[in-house]
Amino acid sequence: MEILKVENYDQMSEKAADIVMEHLQGLDKPVLGLATGSTPEGLYRQLIKRNRAKEISFQNVITFNLDEYIGVKPEDKQSYHYYMNQHLFQHIDMDKRNVHIPNGTTRNEEEECKLYERQLMHVGPIDIQILGIGVNGHIGFNEPGTSFQSKTHVVELAESTRLANSRYFNSLDEVPTKAITMGIDTIMNSKTILLLVSGEKKAAAVKKLIDGEITEAFPASILQQHPKVYVIADEAALREVPNRNVVHV
Ligand code: F6R
Repeated sequence: MEILKVENYDQMSEKAADIVMEHLQGLDKPVLGLATGSTPEGLYRQLIKRNRAKEISFQNVITFNLDEYIGVKPEDKQSYHYYMNQHLFQHIDMDKRNVHIPNGTTRNEEEECKLYERQLMHVGPIDIQILGIGVNGHIGFNEPGTSFQSKTHVVELAESTRLANSRYFNSLDEVPTKAITMGIDTIMNSKTILLLVSGEKKAAAVKKLIDGEITEAFPASILQQHPKVYVIADEAALREVPNRNVVHV
């Protein structure tokens, strides 16, 4: 795990865009794994800017998102389909046929999970997967207790996750209780993982991510066993991590 320390959110986003570009360039059909939430918004702004400046093209890029709520329509503002269109896809030269996001309105959730794995298997592995982290250590929607062997599956969202995400809804009651998420094993099969984290709210989680016990009780801890993980974190998020463990960029 390589821990790259930056000053703030904007630097995190710029550095992340550099690393994503490096990993996509030179590949015929690169596979990019995407996350939603507040953390990658700045990275997406950077990628849009660089796409407009013709520094990077997404014409041949295939994307797979980590997760989607169950029961939320793609056109609903709270869906991750909507988020991705707003924050990235509609602004870049992406071929929409190359976009993959789990279908949260499917009638057959189990079949949807299997289909997602088959689609990924067909074009994968993911060349570079973007991740955020929840305060309880979730990655994707893999909540504490999820098996490290899990593939794409249906999850019950933890109350802390529903509460954190209620900022996007009118009330906590409206936050879905279930989602489809790539599993931990699915994520671990990515060639490179890029985890972004910003702000002191995440400081305790970052400490556990970096040198805590590897346990299903803290899903992100498994990343310590992945051969190629970059963590880009700002000073606030790294408050509890000794400087000797980090590279300043
Ligand atoms: C979203 C996702 C989640 C978020 C995490 C952090 O697709 O996979 O694991 O990365 O909940 O969310 P933010 O960035 O909003 O703090």
